[in-house]
Amino acid sequence: MLPKELITRLHNAKSMTCLTGAGVSAESGIPTFRDAQTGLWAKYNPEELASPQGFLKNPKLVWEWYAWRRKTILNCQPNSAHLSLAKIAQIRPLTLITQNIDGLHQRAGSTQVIELHGNIHQVKCFDENTPVNSWPESSPTPPRCPQCNSFLRPNVVWFGESLPEKQFELATQASQTCDLFISAGTSSLVYPAAALPEFALSHRATLLEINPQPTPLTPYAHFSLQYPAGQILPLILQTLNQ
Ligand code: OAD
Repeated sequence: MLPKELITRLHNAKSMTCLTGAGVSAESGIPTFRDAQTGLWAKYNPEELASPQGFLKNPKLVWEWYAWRRKTILNCQPNSAHLSLAKIAQIRPLTLITQNIDGLHQRAGSTQVIELHGNIHQVKCFDENTPVNSWPESSPTPPRCPQCNSFLRPNVVWFGESLPEKQFELATQASQTCDLFISAGTSSLVYPAAALPEFALSHRATLLEINPQPTPLTPYAHFSLQYPAGQILPLILQTLNQ
């Protein structure tokens, strides 16, 4: 089912980098952002719920929205896309970079994941950005930082905020040095993450895109497999196992 030339390139690849987006968790039941009917941004306003200004305007609403999403995510299970990527990393050099904040790659067994947009299961101080592990049961919503009494917020990247510097540096390096780059389940619309396959291309890597829909990246991909990631990544694992 995979193109012959892709199979050859997979076998020859000395190092691979994979960037994942919301589409990889879609088959676990977690909504994407931009899909027309089911995407989160079709139903909710990102400026209200995913920006520092939105949080300061209505901290309770934003905290509760993330608490709801956290709970939904904990009820979902990793799918065959997450599981295959974890297994591929056991047999081949693979750097896994994700824009997802759901932690499903780790739950599937991936041990080293570069999280570009943070992690919804972690919390940090709004003013000082320091991670906070616990707060008293009886706290208000949102709880306050035990050190400085500022609000606590989810440790995710919001609109208008920079990506964690170290993570982006590692992701850039992995994109510039791999010989096969996989872009899976992302609309390739959000920068700077969307620049990573461009870095890979300019360093002569083979580019494979896995997405049922075309994206702005599709015309540049050497291989574009327009199927769900949960179908294609197990085939890639199977190929690499042969
Ligand atoms: P999007 O919602 O923009 O795009 C999801 C992509 O997944 C779409 O191109 C779908 O066609 C594709 N897709 C859907 N089901 C799929 C499946 N089963 N297999 C493979 N692909 C599938 O999500 P992202 O590209 O991840 O940022 O969005 C990037 C960032 O925008 C997110 O990290 C988030 C959002 O605003 C922040 O919150 C900072």
